[in-house]
Amino acid sequence: MSKNILEMRHIRKQFPGVYALSDTNFSVKEGEIHALVGENGAGKSTLMKILSGVYPKDTYEGEVVIDDKVMSFQAIKDSEKAGVAVIYQELALVKYMNISENIFLGNEILNKQGLIDWDTTFIRARAAMDQVGLTVNPAARVINLGIGTQQLVEIAKAVAKKARILVLDEPTSALTETEIEHLMKLLLAFKERGMTCIFISHKLKEVFNIADRITVLCDGKTVGTYNAEDLTEDKLISLMVGRSLTQRYPSSTRKAEVVAKNKVAMEVKNWTVYDPELIDKIALNNINFYVREGEILGIAGLMGAGRTETMLSILGVWGKKSSGEVKLLGKPVNTRTPSDLIRAGINYLSEDRKGSGLVLIQNVKNNMALPSLYSRLKMGLIDQDAELSVVEKMVQTLRIKTPSVEQLTLNLSGGNQQKVSLGKWLLTNPKVIILDEPTRGIDVGAKYEIYTIMQNLAEKGIAIIMISSELPEILGMSDRILVMHEGTVAGELPRSEASQEKIISLATGGK
Ligand SMILES: Nc1ncnc2c1ncn2[C@@H]1O[C@H](COP(=O)(O)OP(=O)(O)OP(=O)(O)O)[C@@H](O)[C@H]1O
Ligand SMILES: [Mg+2]
Repeated sequence: MSKNILEMRHIRKQFPGVYALSDTNFSVKEGEIHALVGENGAGKSTLMKILSGVYPKDTYEGEVVIDDKVMSFQAIKDSEKAGVAVIYQELALVKYMNISENIFLGNEILNKQGLIDWDTTFIRARAAMDQVGLTVNPAARVINLGIGTQQLVEIAKAVAKKARILVLDEPTSALTETEIEHLMKLLLAFKERGMTCIFISHKLKEVFNIADRITVLCDGKTVGTYNAEDLTEDKLISLMVGRSLTQRYPSSTRKAEVVAKNKVAMEVKNWTVYDPELIDKIALNNINFYVREGEILGIAGLMGAGRTETMLSILGVWGKKSSGEVKLLGKPVNTRTPSDLIRAGINYLSEDRKGSGLVLIQNVKNNMALPSLYSRLKMGLIDQDAELSVVEKMVQTLRIKTPSVEQLTLNLSGGNQQKVSLGKWLLTNPKVIILDEPTRGIDVGAKYEIYTIMQNLAEKGIAIIMISSELPEILGMSDRILVMHEGTVAGELPRSEASQEKIISLATGGK
């Protein structure tokens, strides 16, 4: 039995109006992969920010103990010295510097004259990169790398610092399947070498694949720590959400035969778009699809298949259109700007909530109320009471964890921010709603609530297009499934004929 490398004892952390952590205990053994799970807002990221010194010693109560010594980190640098490296979901590399510069940022290797010793820097960077399987040039600029590669640079940085405790906060949510596989193998290889890893994820399959032990947080308190082999997914879910969830997907009263006869709400024809970077390259080639009123159309495909780009080009914010048209209830619509589409009744929830989904420096109420403002106008003025009441109801339905609707969205946990950006579209009354990865970063309990709302919207006749990289979600929610591959529609499957295997085969270019 190995000893505890880390103990966090009776941690309490307060923010104005909320206790993020009220009595949290967390012990990690040397050399294990330890998963930290819990609902959105449970306190996982906050606990890791205490471990890393983002929140200095005097801003919380309790003790952080590493190798039996009580630590008093004042800043990230202190925790790094103790061997802790935290990789946040929002990666923190300096985009305009190259890989080597990023790896040694703050720990520059200097020569006798006090200048940066580039030869040694590159050699050591290469060595760290080799350990994480990064083959690109160490002089490549970070801005030109994909998310998966950037994450490997962060891990290489941790390796170069000789981290003993590696923390990954939702590392897989923006990675492709291949990248996830690579990361999992890497973590197992690190474990072989005795590294300790703390892994935060809402994807329970991943957790069970990789973790030795699992700690569950609920409302800032530790529910318990368990050996992964003693738990099942269902048991873990009930520990996380405090109730059992017998079904993952709400059943629907809509009948396939009936939906198949509904009017076509939106249709996209012969949609061909040039890549915005490479002027001659066709990025989306002759895409055709439609969605009926009251239908949920799932769009599956590997990352990079062009699903988001299709939607963004329809909104007029991506690529250069070569041909194609969009029809709403049989009538052509102008697709030059996003507001043209919103006015026509097509709404889009972005997969990137920080970049284009939310105004983070605004409060929850204003963010949620924005797209549906006009529906609450009374004699030219906004009906404030109505606004407060619809927003508060949505906050309850989606279980958004916030002290009040006046809280700045900036201060919400990652998953709760996602719920706010989803909630604002659910408050509108569109004809078509396009949801791009609607449950990314969302905990299992809240996913069920979101699915229920989607079913209700479809029952009201709203057409829903859902882009998702989670096959179970595609299979559990869609009436019909469109599979994309390399900028084309590779195939279409009715729910009754769809299976994981068929979707994967189409998504990877098979037939
Ligand atoms: N800077 C802050 N100011 C105010 N409240 C905060 C701040 N940071 C976190 N909180 C609150 O603390 C609680 C815990 O947040 P935390 O980010 O740790 O959750 P989490 O478990 O990581 O959730 P998720 O799975 O959604 O990422 C939440 O209620 C959040 O709103
Ligand atoms: Mg978090």
